Amino acid sequence: MSLIFRPLFEKQSSTYTYLLADAKTKEAVIIDAVDQTQQRDIGLIEELGLQLKYIIETHIHADHITSSCPLKQKFTSAKIVLGENNSVACADILIKDGESLSFGSYKINAIATPGHTNGCMSFVIGDKVFSGDSLLIRSCGRCDFQDGSAAKLFDSIQRLFALPEATKVYPAHDYGGRTLSSIWEEKAFNQMIGGGVDKAEFVRRVEAMELSLPAKIHVAVPANQVCGSKIVAHDK
Ligand SMILES: [Fe+2]
Repeated sequence: MSLIFRPLFEKQSSTYTYLLADAKTKEAVIIDAVDQTQQRDIGLIEELGLQLKYIIETHIHADHITSSCPLKQKFTSAKIVLGENNSVACADILIKDGESLSFGSYKINAIATPGHTNGCMSFVIGDKVFSGDSLLIRSCGRCDFQDGSAAKLFDSIQRLFALPEATKVYPAHDYGGRTLSSIWEEKAFNQMIGGGVDKAEFVRRVEAMELSLPAKIHVAVPANQVCGSKIVAHDK
């Protein structure tokens, strides 16, 4: 019994997509798949002979369009999974905090981590946590749109920090090419919340982030609310 684990990268939005499968049963899940790289991902799934069971989104992304819908059209028995606080009709499963899914002999445990968006969910598989934009390597997601809340994000990250320190952290993005961290590392060195930063200071730091809106936000959010089934027209 072993786990197939393939981290994949989309360079325009610096997004990580993660493909995991049980090597024995071939049941697979994909986390945060991106439209631009759907052919690569479909090719890998087919090459490895995997049966895609779940297409998981950590949240409604603002910076890229998901390939959830195209993947489901290709792998028709797969189910699209989002956290319960997302009102998206295209999701087959709106998973709740504490619920789990399985693929082969592996379990996926959902931990609600709102704050970057109100619908953010992190997923634990064995010794790995897929933290979306809730916990990034040495940083965290912004909280200034999609019902974000720095105070909620602080509480959410405390939940992730309660995981075993050896847990490996796989975020949805890294803009500096880093691929992996650990709960221990982020507790110690995260520049927003590491080293025992308290809630008031964390909120101050998040609110002091100076960021322009993601270039694709007006296209990506509406498109992702329909799981990438079409690109929604907009006028700024
Ligand atoms: Fe995000």
